[in-house]
Amino acid sequence: MFTPSGSEANDVAIKSARHATGRRKIGSLEAGYHGASGLSGAAGDDANAAYFLSDYPDEFLKVPFGDLEAVERALSAGDVAAVLIEPIPATFGFPIPEPGYFQELRGLCDRAGTLLIADEVQTGLGRSGRLWAVEGFGIEPDMLISGKGLGGGLYPIGVVVMSRGVGEWLHERGWGYVSTFGGSELGCSVALRALELCASEKTATNVAEMSAFLSEGLSDIRSRHPFLCDVRQQGLITGLGFDEANGGMRMSAALYPTGLWAMFAGFDRRYLQWKPGLLVDRSYLGEALDKLETAIRHAAG
Ligand SMILES: Cc1ncc(COP(=O)(O)O)c(C=O)c1O
Repeated sequence: MFTPSGSEANDVAIKSARHATGRRKIGSLEAGYHGASGLSGAAGDDANAAYFLSDYPDEFLKVPFGDLEAVERALSAGDVAAVLIEPIPATFGFPIPEPGYFQELRGLCDRAGTLLIADEVQTGLGRSGRLWAVEGFGIEPDMLISGKGLGGGLYPIGVVVMSRGVGEWLHERGWGYVSTFGGSELGCSVALRALELCASEKTATNVAEMSAFLSEGLSDIRSRHPFLCDVRQQGLITGLGFDEANGGMRMSAALYPTGLWAMFAGFDRRYLQWKPGLLVDRSYLGEALDKLETAIRHAAG
């Protein structure tokens, strides 16, 4: 089902999960971000949802990142429709899940009759080194969300891909979700071309080469600047940790005058989200790394 945004794709996923399971509760991460609309907002930051009186604490359960026991407790009553999760949570600074995390999560969901929704708005479309990050973690979700780059920066489009069972409502109630611009001809043409580019072998090879180049460059910089104290990387998805409570924020500010915009991680401001595009080349990435080093000199001082 196509939508005009990632937020709305998450809304549709939550509604589909509720319809398919007959359950209302949704589990998600305390430090997850799924958008700013009604249901997607309720699945994210409690404080922001509460500010708009749009939090539903009895229906939206939050667990800490990486805590499978908390997931097990939340699912134990058998009344949770779905767990909605970013494979590598962007706004938390891209912490990489432990090996086996997703297999265990998938197993917990299966045993509780709970659906698993992967929000790949940030991690999808090749940036992790695979078309979808969940492929790299070896699991298949019941629903997958994409957006952002799917519109190639030209046209807003999001999508929720559902398993046949979950998407059954599309046959029963075709008007169950509609949107003026979701799935428009222009949007779909743009998205098709974006998908072709993201899924091509040539792009995958470039991502692998550039990820290795990036990794080398970052360890080089790290060896010279202890202010850069953590590097999390999966393909081109990178979270950079700085040795100060607001280090990521300071780095966003220090990079901006160099012409490079990188967003700090809102739920852990020590971290900076560092997300080169899939089609970067050595010269672009080399220049970006030089700018990073210049910014570190300013921010660390
Ligand atoms: C992981 C994730 N999900 C959903 C969204 C919401 O997408 P949109 O801004 O297109 O509504 C975002 C946006 O930043 C996101 O990062």
